[in-house]
Amino acid sequence: MKANMLDYTREEISQLADDRLEAEWQQYMAFSNQRQRLREDVQRMLRKKSAQHQVKAADIPELGMTTTKMGTREILLAKVAGKIYAIDNACGHSGYPLHKGKLDGYVVTCRWHDAQFDVRSGAVLAVGREMKPINRYRVVQSDDATLRIGEEL
Ligand code: FES
Repeated sequence: MKANMLDYTREEISQLADDRLEAEWQQYMAFSNQRQRLREDVQRMLRKKSAQHQVKAADIPELGMTTTKMGTREILLAKVAGKIYAIDNACGHSGYPLHKGKLDGYVVTCRWHDAQFDVRSGAVLAVGREMKPINRYRVVQSDDATLRIGEEL
């Protein structure tokens, strides 16, 4: 077993025994989950520790975004049609800062995984990364009740 699964080539992975492949997968998932938790903790701490600063309405251009603080919460300020909206500056997915994303009308898109929020309400408009549909198949039962996969539907 290598210290880091990323060290494997595709060829090496294709030659691993089933139990070894499963063990590598378990190790990789543990590492991946731990890394994700760490990323979220770091982001939460960065948002919490960001500097307090005053913002004037004129500092924010039309369709611009900036941040301010409310206690230890970092708040996103977005100006749309001359009005300024305030929502948490932490994406509802992994807490990454929304002000580093893109504002298109009332919709702010997180730059990491594309979740979208309405700056007027904080409502989730899209959960993020586009998913491709997957194939489905007819299930056929033989006379002896054995299941067989039929044609793609
Ligand atoms: S952190 Fe915003 S979509 Fe993942």
